[in-house]
Amino acid sequence: MRRPIRLNRNFCRKLWPGMQRGCPDPRGLLDAGISDSDANEILVRMKIHGVFKTTWSDRFPQTTRLLASSGLSPQAVIADVGASDGSTSLSVMQAMRFGRYYVTDRYVEAYACTTRKGMFFCDEHANPFMFANRFVVIYNETGEAPRSQSGIVKNLFAGFDMAKCKDVRKVPLMNRALLPKLGDDVRLERYDIFEAWPHEKADLVIAANILNRDYFADSLLSDALRNLKGALKDGGRLALIENRPAEQSNLFRLEHGRFIVESQVGAGSDVKALVTGLA
Ligand SMILES: C[S@@+](CC[C@H](N)C(=O)[O-])C[C@H]1O[C@@H](n2cnc3c(N)ncnc32)[C@H](O)[C@@H]1O
Repeated sequence: MRRPIRLNRNFCRKLWPGMQRGCPDPRGLLDAGISDSDANEILVRMKIHGVFKTTWSDRFPQTTRLLASSGLSPQAVIADVGASDGSTSLSVMQAMRFGRYYVTDRYVEAYACTTRKGMFFCDEHANPFMFANRFVVIYNETGEAPRSQSGIVKNLFAGFDMAKCKDVRKVPLMNRALLPKLGDDVRLERYDIFEAWPHEKADLVIAANILNRDYFADSLLSDALRNLKGALKDGGRLALIENRPAEQSNLFRLEHGRFIVESQVGAGSDVKALVTGLA
């Protein structure tokens, strides 16, 4: 990230009323009265340990139509991995019938920690990924940042200690419209694609905009693919989708332990060869 330090959008609005500048203030997630769209706007600008939570409603409409017409049983179990706040999971749920839908992500909640400097956001292991105060929003990422910014970022986050915070609150990182749907047939679960799938086997696994070479090396992508294969029933399907920015995807079917390509949208998945070559 070339500019981990951004101006806080609320501060920008005071300086330049009416202009859409700056980063949405993540502290808004603690506001009980925040609208669904404002909460979504904050969530999609979050980046946690190298991966953006970017998503939007009906993000891959062609693949969704393909899935809806793929002859899946109305009792099908669907596992949506790396689903972010669930916005696009809601669109898939609307388009097709299913028995149970697992909306999963590595980060389904975060901790908002108040300090004298401002508020740090961190994961369940107290590793901070973002900071905000009245003036700025800062990402904990220094890879491509100019030295002038990376020094500030390193010092800020190195000084964070969750135990010394004045107040610590859990914040759901989910689309507010998903929460009332949760129950026996729609489940929200924390799931890391680098771990074995711990729930019932699925008829369909959806992995959209997560198995990405910008995020993970091929060896890690293969590890994740092996876990997703383990999550499927024999004859089950894996949908791999990317928006770069045009929609491109493949639907694979698991047959006798190997994935075969069943259909393709646009240029297909960038990691198609890794999937079909998986032993
Ligand atoms: C770019 S978003 C994609 C969201 C949605 N699938 C879509 O296509 O709009 C990637 C998501 O993957 C999640 N993620 C990152 N690492 C993960 C991991 N190891 N296991 C599961 N999810 C992960 C991030 O938290 C983020 O919500």
